[in-house]
Amino acid sequence: MSILTFDTLDSTNSYLKRNGKNLDHFTVVQANHQEQGKGRLGRSWQDQGNSLLFSILLKEKIEPERVPLLSLLAGASVVLTLEHYGLTPLVKWPNDTLVSEKKISGILTEAVSEGEDIFYIVGIGINLNQKGFEGELSQKATSLFLLTKKEYDKEEVLTVLLSYFTPLYQDYIQGGKKFLTVVKSHSYLDQKEVSLDYYGEHIHGTVIDITDKGTLLLDVSGKQIEVSSGEVTLNQMYLK
Ligand code: BTN
Repeated sequence: MSILTFDTLDSTNSYLKRNGKNLDHFTVVQANHQEQGKGRLGRSWQDQGNSLLFSILLKEKIEPERVPLLSLLAGASVVLTLEHYGLTPLVKWPNDTLVSEKKISGILTEAVSEGEDIFYIVGIGINLNQKGFEGELSQKATSLFLLTKKEYDKEEVLTVLLSYFTPLYQDYIQGGKKFLTVVKSHSYLDQKEVSLDYYGEHIHGTVIDITDKGTLLLDVSGKQIEVSSGEVTLNQMYLK
């Protein structure tokens, strides 16, 4: 594994998209600050230089149906890292990690195909040393500093995270599901009522579980439906 560290990049995911072809499997790219940080669903991911921002390049062959599991695998390593620092995190399927109902980390997984070759980029952002958030974000976001009143060293947190990610990834690539045990035991949405857009239709349901395929299993009016991350937008949550 090699770690490339930059002061400023447009986005660590974009860097690997451009250069991944010529870099080794498991290259990790970290930036102190991103000028065009990317979030899910075309959103931006802003930072003021006090977040841990990095992406991992994966060049091994992965069966297409197992690719969506990569975000959950990353989520499992974020959860274990935050627990290492004494926090009680939960995974909000499919890509967020929450502590005390507020988002502390987001994940953006991308696939890049170059001719016959496909490689994968797992981008992770963790709010580390923010002393507060502006406006709407103050209700929705938190950081390790806000939760523990301590400052964190980016390199150290990255090392801890990779020490969890690496064995979970090795297990996953051999067909294992150790990461799913972590995700399922830390699932924020379990038993919650959610409303979502499903193939253009607005539906309400109760979350039953996260399946071994990484999909969300819902009870919608007594009928079980499975949704995958690409096809839903969670609109609202009704806490029970
Ligand atoms: C989300 O919550 O919508 C996903 C956010 C992902 C942010 C990380 S920060 C490191 C990597 N580089 C990016 O441009 N995005 C991801």
